[in-house]
Amino acid sequence: AAAPAPSGAALTFKPIPPNEIDTVIVPNGYDHAVVIRWGDPVLPGAPAFDLEHQTGESQSRQFGYNNDFLCVVPIPGSDRRALLVSNHEYTNEELMFPGFTTQEALTVDQVRAAMAAHGMSVVEIERVGRTGQWQPVRGKRLPYNKRLTMLATPFRADGPAAGSPFLRTVADPRGTTIIGTLNNCAGGLTPWGTALSGEENFNQYFVGGDAVPEADKARLNRYGILTTARYPSGSRRWERAQERFDLAKHPNEANRFGWIVEVDPLDPGALPRKHTAMGRFKHEGANVIVAKSGHVAAYMGDDERFEYLYKFVSDKRYRPGDRKHNLTLLESGTLYVAQLTGDSPAAEIDGTGKLPSDGAFDGTGKWIKLVSGTTSFVPGMTAVEVLTFTRFAGDKVGATKMDRPEDVQPSLRSGKIYAALTNNTNRGVGTYAGVDEANPRVANKHGQVLEITEDGGDHTGESFTWSLPIVCGDPDDPGTYFGGYDKTKVSPISCPDNVAFDSSGNLWIATDGNALGSNDGLFATAIEGPERGHLKQFLTVPPGAETCGPFITADDRSVLVAVQHPGEITGATVDNPASTWPDGSYAKPAVVVTWRLDGGRIGS
Ligand code: FEO
Ligand code: CA
Ligand code: CA
Ligand code: CA
Repeated sequence: AAAPAPSGAALTFKPIPPNEIDTVIVPNGYDHAVVIRWGDPVLPGAPAFDLEHQTGESQSRQFGYNNDFLCVVPIPGSDRRALLVSNHEYTNEELMFPGFTTQEALTVDQVRAAMAAHGMSVVEIERVGRTGQWQPVRGKRLPYNKRLTMLATPFRADGPAAGSPFLRTVADPRGTTIIGTLNNCAGGLTPWGTALSGEENFNQYFVGGDAVPEADKARLNRYGILTTARYPSGSRRWERAQERFDLAKHPNEANRFGWIVEVDPLDPGALPRKHTAMGRFKHEGANVIVAKSGHVAAYMGDDERFEYLYKFVSDKRYRPGDRKHNLTLLESGTLYVAQLTGDSPAAEIDGTGKLPSDGAFDGTGKWIKLVSGTTSFVPGMTAVEVLTFTRFAGDKVGATKMDRPEDVQPSLRSGKIYAALTNNTNRGVGTYAGVDEANPRVANKHGQVLEITEDGGDHTGESFTWSLPIVCGDPDDPGTYFGGYDKTKVSPISCPDNVAFDSSGNLWIATDGNALGSNDGLFATAIEGPERGHLKQFLTVPPGAETCGPFITADDRSVLVAVQHPGEITGATVDNPASTWPDGSYAKPAVVVTWRLDGGRIGS
């Protein structure tokens, strides 16, 4: 008899080859469609999209730019309707505004449109017929639909650093009400049906860092805010629309970004929140799993070269069905940072990706406790300092400097945690930190996937083992690894960014910045058993785009991806586009759904 599928259903689809085609490509037997694109209406009464006349007001009612994280939250009591939650990470002004020259030359109206194009959207969607396709619900009454924008949406800060002097400003002397969310990258769907979203590269929005007191500059610098010039190059010049982005006048405004945000799409009246207990860094995202004890653990990455992996464990326990209680779980808890140790001799990690003599990049790790409630475990730092300037805490305790930790997500089937370490072209170069067993390649162009197994399966614990199931790149390159699988049978992959799971526990990986030269895309592999590492390409996106999301619905019938920044290629503009996807004119970021024509399971 055949052995049972070790991690559930097999991935039998025929992989698609690498390509540079200006559309979304899916396997034979599948179809795809745009669900919603930049400028489509979200709120009732939204004006039709008008490329030539974009304002803060119009964009505040329309779907924002550069969709990134996605999740689909079922509406209780309905099997045909759900809520699509999407992040809008950043804007490409050159691809948005005809005649664009420089940020300085934008009108204030255009700056306000760009600010409104950042944030998040909640959109009610419905199934199309009996397929896996989804489309927005249209109508005059859309009670769940929401735009959260940088222009005007208040967020409530909670947790131990809320209200601290670091968060107080002239506009918000209590330090608890923050307007907007910034550079929202990946995220997670919680077991209680809310969306978590990471505020990532918030540094690029501030000017005036040169004028802050000398003693405060190190804190800005550690988060990438330049303090050597009033207008760092590439500055978005948002202070022309709202003065708060001028640190010379409002030095604490930058401290109000870099948090994990929680949005409850099912409660249209609820204020979105920023959870200070989960620390402040360039948050890629956060994904939650309920531990055996009932506490919840959130796994998180700080996406920059040589930054750290983190874990948050709640003080309180998850109560099935008690939504009001569960909404408080991320307000208090303990924050840890990861330290990884290889089990092979350091001399065997030669920087090429060649496996050490034990046949694996693997080892053990510790979760180092940084702060629990108002108690700091970091010498010389208060709890509020640890939470607000978390990168310094990681530095002090000797956390492991990783190759850009992007999305970090536990498999709800196995409890193992998967982190996309996207790349690090500075690894081992010049005076930068050298290779270690978890980050084994010099000038790492293609990235790797890290698997963490908590000791005893305990998500509240402080020790784990780890390995690298996939060391990305062209499989013909000897410095790659695909779980030990026959490398002649796998798809090339570069720069893993977002991870997801289907209900069988297969690992899905989306890429950003394919350094092999073809379009980015979405891949899938079994992660247990003999098919571990049999990676196959499922989808590609147009040139210049990265593949975000991805999200597989609980019934395994739909996979949604966010096609972010299509046509983002040096020199391209909206007037001279490098991609005309999806409408044939100029490029627009959009959410795409893919489904099997016969209604079958995704991946089959
Ligand atoms: Fe916004 Fe880390 O990618
Ligand atoms: Ca990302
Ligand atoms: Ca080893
Ligand atoms: Ca990315």
